[in-house]
Amino acid sequence: MKTFSVFAALLVAVFSKEVFHGHQVLRIVPKDDVQMSLIKLLEDILELELDFWRWVAPVDVRVPSHSLQAVMTYLESHNIKYFPVIKDLQVLFIFWVRVNFLSFSQIYSFQDMLVAENPKLVSKIVIGQSYERRPLNVLKFSTGGSNRPAIWIDTGIHAREWVTQASGVWFAKKIVTDYGKDQSLTAILNRMDIFLEIVVNPDGYQYTHTRDRMWRKNRRPNRGSRCVGVDLNRNWNAGFGGQGSSRDPCSNIYHGARAHSEPEVTSIVNFLRSHGNIKAFIAIHSYSQMLLYPYGYTRVPAKDDAELKQVAQKAVTALTSLYGTPYRYGSIISTIYQSSGGSIDWTYNQGIKYSYTFELRDTGIFGFILPANQIIPTANETWLALKSIMDHTFKNPY
Ligand SMILES: *[C@@H]1O[C@H](CO)[C@@H](O)[C@H](O)[C@H]1NC(C)=O
Repeated sequence: MKTFSVFAALLVAVFSKEVFHGHQVLRIVPKDDVQMSLIKLLEDILELELDFWRWVAPVDVRVPSHSLQAVMTYLESHNIKYFPVIKDLQVLFIFWVRVNFLSFSQIYSFQDMLVAENPKLVSKIVIGQSYERRPLNVLKFSTGGSNRPAIWIDTGIHAREWVTQASGVWFAKKIVTDYGKDQSLTAILNRMDIFLEIVVNPDGYQYTHTRDRMWRKNRRPNRGSRCVGVDLNRNWNAGFGGQGSSRDPCSNIYHGARAHSEPEVTSIVNFLRSHGNIKAFIAIHSYSQMLLYPYGYTRVPAKDDAELKQVAQKAVTALTSLYGTPYRYGSIISTIYQSSGGSIDWTYNQGIKYSYTFELRDTGIFGFILPANQIIPTANETWLALKSIMDHTFKNPY
């Protein structure tokens, strides 16, 4: 026992300088919109240092030990139901070793290796630099041609959503092994290119490995504030600054000084603009098990709403067929919440019809601390949905 706790303490020390002793993740179950707005009020009380993991009902929120009593009293006084899903976040860290989650530099080495081993199929494009000057790498899978119609996939725009970067690595390997074997992927790659950015937010990702496992934003210091970071999925020029984003630099959903202010976002924007022939744009997040399409910032349905829904349904059916993982689908605003300045709303408005975003596993048992043994099944089932969307894009040129 002694040995174990020494080992555990070491592991925690290695894991993260930020500690989460006594932090609980509460699942709050509002029974109506009134209760929902009462929950949202908590977010504005910065002293509580709450970290919302999931804004949709049921809401998941990480509560530091010093705020637990206050939050529970508040919820009880308003008769709002809640229960702890994670009773002590630090204990979860102790029991869960982060083997198999690659670091930033391991993912970058992997990318170079993949290119070196498959020069006819894979190349690497550096589309820009992060705030801390890390290269922003995109893998290009192409069998030739020039400026072919293309599919864009990205993972890791939010640093702590580790299963997404891990899945990105798996997708890259999968494309290489399945080209020439899998009929539908081969047909797609014979006429289209695939671009994959595995680490959209490298500074944040590095930070989750070295300092704070729960970090979400990029690492830009904000002028006039002690708080660091911009939420890269609130920084796009689509409903920028609206509901579902925050102007407070300390917020986890801080939208930044202006639309496209962040290099991690502008690099993609510039790439998409100069390419000009992207037909599908798929941004991958965790967690919640959902497949979503525009819009997030407005209730006005996208003009392709019916088709987007039908494609989502097909993709979800394919995903669920593998292990039975339940998924919901719909527009962002009708399925989760209003969220402004998100990437797929912007890409859709630029004319990229098949703009989708995934929320991968799970539904909150582990949340962002999804164990490594779920990487492969998560990536494997997601791949079926991705292929389904790519196949539809391929067969429905526009
Ligand atoms: C992934 O899914 C395929 C079916 O699409 C299955 O044949 C394969 O065994 C799965 N791979 C792993 C590693 O689970």
